[in-house]
Amino acid sequence: MDTVSLIRKKRDGHELSTEEIRFLVEGFSAGEIPDYQMSSFAMAIFFKGMTDRETADLTMAMVESGEQVDLSKINGIKVDKHSTGGVGDTTTLTLVPLVAAAGVPVAKLSGRGLGHTGGTIDKLDAIQGFSTELDIEEFIQLVNNSKVAVVGQTANLTPADKKLYALRDVTGTVDSIPLIASSIMSKKIASGADAIVLDVKTGDGAFMKEEADAIKLAEAMVAIGKQVGRKTIAVISDMSQPLGYAIGNAVEVKEAIDTLKGEGPEDLHELGLVLGSQMLILAGRAKTTEEARSLLEGVVKDGSALAKFREFIKGQHGNAEIVDQPELLPQPAEKIQVLAEKSGFVQRILAEEVGLCAMKLGAGRETKDDVIDYAVGIVLHKKVGDSVSDKETIATLYVNEKENLDEVMSRLHQAIQIGSEKVQTSALIRCIIT
Ligand code: URA
Ligand code: CA
Repeated sequence: MDTVSLIRKKRDGHELSTEEIRFLVEGFSAGEIPDYQMSSFAMAIFFKGMTDRETADLTMAMVESGEQVDLSKINGIKVDKHSTGGVGDTTTLTLVPLVAAAGVPVAKLSGRGLGHTGGTIDKLDAIQGFSTELDIEEFIQLVNNSKVAVVGQTANLTPADKKLYALRDVTGTVDSIPLIASSIMSKKIASGADAIVLDVKTGDGAFMKEEADAIKLAEAMVAIGKQVGRKTIAVISDMSQPLGYAIGNAVEVKEAIDTLKGEGPEDLHELGLVLGSQMLILAGRAKTTEEARSLLEGVVKDGSALAKFREFIKGQHGNAEIVDQPELLPQPAEKIQVLAEKSGFVQRILAEEVGLCAMKLGAGRETKDDVIDYAVGIVLHKKVGDSVSDKETIATLYVNEKENLDEVMSRLHQAIQIGSEKVQTSALIRCIIT
């Protein structure tokens, strides 16, 4: 096999065999195929696409390029959940104890945030003492004992994907469905999940702004799951405005606690129930969504989801007192109110811009090496469709450094658009792809 003829074959729109794809990924991983040839191959995929079979082969070749987490010592069917990334997406924090309280083991590997999107590991790091770097034995033992543990992705998971993503990032080949789908799924499969629930976001704050693209991506990932024997379901959900009210780290931990008490934002609560129901079904814990939903509603009502959150924090060496005393979470020097400049109805809350504002306050990373301030962030007081009076508080900024404050204020005023007509809100759950 030679690399140039394989690049040509894809360039001319032909299907590559399993062996040919493996040859390219292994050669690239080993440093035998140079970056310029792999970039050219990625561009050929960008233009010619891949069949479901090719995409699954690419996924598995990347899975096999590194370590694979063996979760076989955990009893039961392990279901993972993955979000394609959003703003104020507090879902994992609420979902993990919720599902575990309903009796399904959750052994989750999560990532950190970059740019306008936040990451679960950063949010958990806002809890004093919480360790997201457990060794694999402790991780497995925790899941067997208390049904739940969440750790950061190890360095050696899917190195071929990491290397290829870095190339795609600088060669205009990120936004190709087979490349994105294989990249995401390779990490989930290498993490050891038996079944996967995907939360594919669409709208302003999402990676896939258009719903049709989000559906295509979801279908490609579900098809990979089918090909490689890991049951996969995708929920397409709205990210045209931030999820819940809180955007940041400590503020999102607080929002998760409220939600587990049944006192959180409606959208966050609902998305948790929808994703959680799919997880319960894949794990064989419930037969129908109605049955699953009622189980999940039950563990919120009777307090066992909240108790599970305490147990989860304690298990990973964090201070579980924050559940009953959220004021123990990192607090900012100042809370500054953002006031409406006119009366009317909220027309839009531009999610990406709000995420960037939170990042500017220090809640997120502009570059990989930035240090996060866990105490800062934004708490919105309104959702799209709500009425607003002039000078009413529409958001509270949690601030330590005032350096970017003027810029954030003015950008946030632009991002929270107020007009005279009451608008329809977009549906939170668009569809489910199986
Ligand atoms: N997220 C990933 O993990 N990979 C992609 O290619 C795009 C988004
Ligand atoms: Ca939120």
